[in-house]
Amino acid sequence: MSISRKVKEIAPSLTLEITAKAKKMKADGISVIGFGAGEPDFNTPEYIIDSAKKALDIGFTKYTPAAGMLELKKAVCDKFLKDNNLVYDSAQIVISSGAKSSLYHAICAIVDEGDEVVLPSPFWLTYPELIKLAGGKCVYVQTKKENGYKMTAEQFAEIITDKTKCLILNTPNNPTGAIYSEEEIKAIAKVAEEKGIYVISDEIYEKLVYEGEKHYSIAQYSEKMKDLTIIINGMSKTYAMTGWRIGYLAAPLSIAKAISSMQSHTTSNACSISQYASVTALTAPEGEQFIAKMQKVFDERRKLMIEMLQDVDGIECVQPKGAFYVFVNVSKLYGKKYDGVEINGSLTFADCALKQGIALIPGIAFGNDECIRLSYAISIEDIKEGLTRLISFINLLK
Ligand SMILES: Cc1ncc(COP(=O)(O)O)c(C=O)c1O
Repeated sequence: MSISRKVKEIAPSLTLEITAKAKKMKADGISVIGFGAGEPDFNTPEYIIDSAKKALDIGFTKYTPAAGMLELKKAVCDKFLKDNNLVYDSAQIVISSGAKSSLYHAICAIVDEGDEVVLPSPFWLTYPELIKLAGGKCVYVQTKKENGYKMTAEQFAEIITDKTKCLILNTPNNPTGAIYSEEEIKAIAKVAEEKGIYVISDEIYEKLVYEGEKHYSIAQYSEKMKDLTIIINGMSKTYAMTGWRIGYLAAPLSIAKAISSMQSHTTSNACSISQYASVTALTAPEGEQFIAKMQKVFDERRKLMIEMLQDVDGIECVQPKGAFYVFVNVSKLYGKKYDGVEINGSLTFADCALKQGIALIPGIAFGNDECIRLSYAISIEDIKEGLTRLISFINLLK
C-alpha cells in the first residue's frame, strides 16, 4: 500500500500523542496532572443543550445549505457587527465543521502549489500541516521573547517575496497567550495592504482576554484590508462546544462562494443540530453571562499560574493576556540531568516531567524548542498540585 506524498509528509499531532501517554498512565493507576488540555473544561451551557434537544424534537435533522443555515449566518453577521464593528452580508459567511475545517478550506481556496504562507513562530501546530496539504510553502518568522512572541510589521515586510500569498495571524495566540495590540495589528495591516497579501486571521480565542485587553481584528483596519482578510472563528472555545464541531469564517464574497462550493463536496454541511443550537448560543442573553463567568474563572487560574511560576529559578514566562495557555521558557535548564537523562530540548523535558506525573506539551510542537506549553483549562486544585510537582521536578535537575 503506498501512501500519497502529501499525506506522508503530515506530522502526527504531538499534543494528542502526549495526551494519550498521560491517559495510559492514569489507566495504569499512576497519578498524572495534565497541562495539555486544548479545550475549556466547562460543560456546554444548559440553554444550548436544550436548544439541540429541540432541534431533534422538531426534526431538524436533514442536510442544510453547504455554507450553513441562514439563521446561523445571520447570527454570525450580528456577532461581527456587535463585537468587531464589521459589516458582513450573510453570503460572506461560511459555517463549517469546526474552525479547523474553516481554516483548511480557507487555505485551499487561496493557496496554489508553491505559494508562500507566512507563519509567525511559535504557531498553532495545525497550521503548517494544513498549508502542506494545500501544496503551500510555510515561511516561518521567528518572533522574540522580548516582543512577547509577536511578529513585528518590520519582520513581516522583510520576509515577503513575490511568492507570498498570505499570512496566518492568530490573536489571542495559541500557544503563547499573546494578544496583538491595535497598533501592532495596524502596522502589520499596512504592510499586507501595500503588498496585497491575504491574511487568514484566526480569532477563535477572541473572548478569552484578560487585564482589560481588547481584541482587535485586522479586518477592522480598512475596507481594503477587509477585502484581503478571511476571519476564522467558532463556537468551540467561546461556548465550551468543542465536540459540537461548529466553526465559521467571514470572507470577501468570491472567496466565501469558492469555499462554500468546495465544502459542498468535502463535508456537505456542518451538523444541522449543532448549527441550530449555535443560533441559540449566539443570540440568547445567557451567552454573555456564560462567557463572563468562564473568563473570570480562567483569569483566576491564569493569575495563580503566573504567581506560582514567576519566582522559579531557571524558567521565564511572558505574561499571557489571552486564551488559556502559559508558554514557559525552560531552556536555561537544558544540559541538566534527570535520573541520568540529559535534558537537551523541550521533548526530553516533557518526557522526564511525565515520569514525575506532569503532562505538558513540548514547545517544539509549536516551532519553539526552548519552551513548554501549560494549559490552565484545568481546576485550581490540579494547577496547584501540578505546578508544585513541576517545581520539585525542576529542583531535582542536576
Ligand atoms: C488557534 C486555534 N485555532 C483553531 C482551533 C480549532 O478549533 P475547532 O474546535 O473549532 O476546530 C484551535 C483548537 O485548539 C486553536 O487552538
